[in-house]
Amino acid sequence: MLDLVRGCTFDDLILSPQRSVLARRDPSAIDLSSRISRRITLKRPIVSANMDTVTRAPMAIVQAEEGGLGVIDRGFRPGEIEPQVREVEIVKRTQHGVIKDPWSIAPTASLDEAAALMEKKRIGTLVVVDERQRLAGLLTERDMRFVTRRGSYVSDRMTPVAQLVTHEGVIAPDAAERLMVERKIKKLPLVGKDGSLLGLITARDLVRQRRMPFATRDTHGRLRVGAAIGATGDYLERAAELIRAEVDVIVIDIAHGHSIVMERAIEQFRKRFGEFEMIAGNVATAEGAKFLLDLGADGIKVGIGPGGGCTTRITTSFGVPQVQALVECRLALGDSDVAVVADGGVRRHGAIFEALLFGGDCVMLGSAFAGTEESPGEVVHKSVVLPESQKTVKVPFKVLRGMASLAAIRDRLDVEDADKVELEALGAEGMEISVPSRGSVRPIVRDMIKHVCSSISYGGAASLGEAREMFWKDPQRFLIKQSASARRESYER
Ligand code: XMP
Repeated sequence: MLDLVRGCTFDDLILSPQRSVLARRDPSAIDLSSRISRRITLKRPIVSANMDTVTRAPMAIVQAEEGGLGVIDRGFRPGEIEPQVREVEIVKRTQHGVIKDPWSIAPTASLDEAAALMEKKRIGTLVVVDERQRLAGLLTERDMRFVTRRGSYVSDRMTPVAQLVTHEGVIAPDAAERLMVERKIKKLPLVGKDGSLLGLITARDLVRQRRMPFATRDTHGRLRVGAAIGATGDYLERAAELIRAEVDVIVIDIAHGHSIVMERAIEQFRKRFGEFEMIAGNVATAEGAKFLLDLGADGIKVGIGPGGGCTTRITTSFGVPQVQALVECRLALGDSDVAVVADGGVRRHGAIFEALLFGGDCVMLGSAFAGTEESPGEVVHKSVVLPESQKTVKVPFKVLRGMASLAAIRDRLDVEDADKVELEALGAEGMEISVPSRGSVRPIVRDMIKHVCSSISYGGAASLGEAREMFWKDPQRFLIKQSASARRESYER
């Protein structure tokens, strides 16, 4: 297998069409489930990259809602841990099955305090709990409408627990829905035997869950999210805070993951956080993958130099063409259940399927999601000359930058005033690119999924798993190396 793809990346190869067995290429009927790490499965194998111009909470929310995952970047300055934690919290609080820790207030608090809390947290309901955390009632915005707040307390306006429908212990979403319909309620507090508050189920969250059956959720029904840390400096403290905020997976991300720095970082991580789900990278060789496997990573990020905003290969002459890297790493992992995250180099949708076929359990994308509404950063308008009419028009752009670009390093290190020589000494391996600003990332992800389904159909399989199986059993049946003119025929339009 390795001999067939040595020196190759996505555009060097094309796949020979097989007899299709699918009546319809329906994304809701084709199984695309695949892992991102040992214990986390995605229904759709797409992940947004931990880059500060790609993934913050808005991107991570859409990715998880669409069945993939977003990894919040670590592009915050050393010691600035809280902003990254906040992004994780926003995702975790977006959609729930059960809200484990709903915003609450004491019955003795004033209505002014209640109104201020609702406004700050942008919520319409507060759970009222006494000093022993027992449910005392519910207070909604409506309860405070048209009343003089001054001198009034939460206990004056809340619906007291005696008049509420509650449920003792845990309840399945279906049963909760039936109860809510039957009793005509929109909120169902869950309580322990002693009346202590266990959580809250809301009709709105149940409706959202139903509408998004592919979403990536944790055991409490909340959206899953990942977050990146480095391998030196504040990385352990950062990990501790992210884990406290209930991040689902930590990604230890450095440019060259097959290194002594990574070895120390993983050892320390495991010592401190035990079995917590952890992906490490990046590597691109069999030895690199084996190294991370032996150190105990649950997932391995593969890709040295293929990224759209990356200049590693230009500046250092090191790297491995991405298809070769994926095959090498997949073969090195053998029967282990450690997942491969194929990271970078996807410049057209077809390459997603290739990445998934050649060894990626899921695929990580950066530039493909840049410039969308959900990517961080300001929209700037630049003058562009139209080639046909030579007219100048203002076009909206957003910036995509490599995480090892000078600008990203400068921001992370807070060395705005450092002179140019000092910055150059940092050895940038990334660049800044202007990307036309476009709409939401949601239709882009959906299109990608549809195209993966079409690839499965062309490949003669009924699911992603089956496509991989067929391919690895007899790769020569599929693989065609493209000549330079074949590549032109394939991609030049
Ligand atoms: P795409 O091709 O999807 O790749 O934009 C995203 C991946 O690129 C990597 N990345 C970098 N690599 N220097 C690098 O060598 C950089 O400055 C840089 N920034 C991002 C990263 O693995 C990301 O997921």
